[in-house]
Amino acid sequence: MTISNMSFADAIEARRSYYNITNESTLTNEQLEQLVADAIKYTPSSFNSQTSRAVLVTGEKNKALWNAVWEAHKANLKEEEIPVYEDKFKNSYSAGYGTIVFYEDQDAIDGFVKNFPIVQWTIKDWVQTSNGMAQFIAWTALASHGMGGNLQHYGQFGPANAEAINKNLGVPSGWKIPLAMLAFGVPADINAPGNPAFPKTFQPLVDGETGRVLVRH
Ligand SMILES: Cc1cc2nc3c(=O)[nH]c(=O)nc-3n(C[C@H](O)[C@H](O)[C@H](O)COP(=O)(O)O)c2cc1C
Repeated sequence: MTISNMSFADAIEARRSYYNITNESTLTNEQLEQLVADAIKYTPSSFNSQTSRAVLVTGEKNKALWNAVWEAHKANLKEEEIPVYEDKFKNSYSAGYGTIVFYEDQDAIDGFVKNFPIVQWTIKDWVQTSNGMAQFIAWTALASHGMGGNLQHYGQFGPANAEAINKNLGVPSGWKIPLAMLAFGVPADINAPGNPAFPKTFQPLVDGETGRVLVRH
């Protein structure tokens, strides 16, 4: 697994949302390919169905991808929102080294349901769960190598956005909806606007009957 020798505990804590990222990478393209392949390979899936997919995009192709999404997404925005989002697309997402785009393969899902009809009602939730695990592994592995990333969902704001992304990436027809786009790169200074200079606040965890974690020893 392409994960640094940082401990798992340190790596999950190091993973934060970084919006001010540079076009630098601490890993070579080959190492990044391995990282994404490992995230997809080792993520558990229901009945080992292995329906998650990913595209690794870097360099000029990364800029072209975000430009294509921007051209499509503009149509969803109100006039006054355009400059705000344009700034995010031009100066944040496309300023990074690359993006990992996560998909579920509908053809693989359909084939799986055909063999296991019992899962037809649950599979939709299960593939999302599994896909989220793959996203988390990739994001955390990148963080363990000193990289920052932010998770975007522009492929889900209507079919035109999804089509623009799919066409730009040239994915197979079964890869229908880009579920998440993880824009990444070496972070600009942690104090740079958009980066997690301050610890985030957490709601109470193990806290009697009102916390997020209940205990029944
Ligand atoms: C399912 C999911 C969806 C998210 N969607 C977005 C998103 O569309 N845009 C974004 O900037 N961040 C998105 N995030 C990132 C969260 O806002 C972020 O993880 C959270 O505020 C905690 O901050 P941290 O990542 O620094 O720990 C998403 C995170 C998750 C898990």
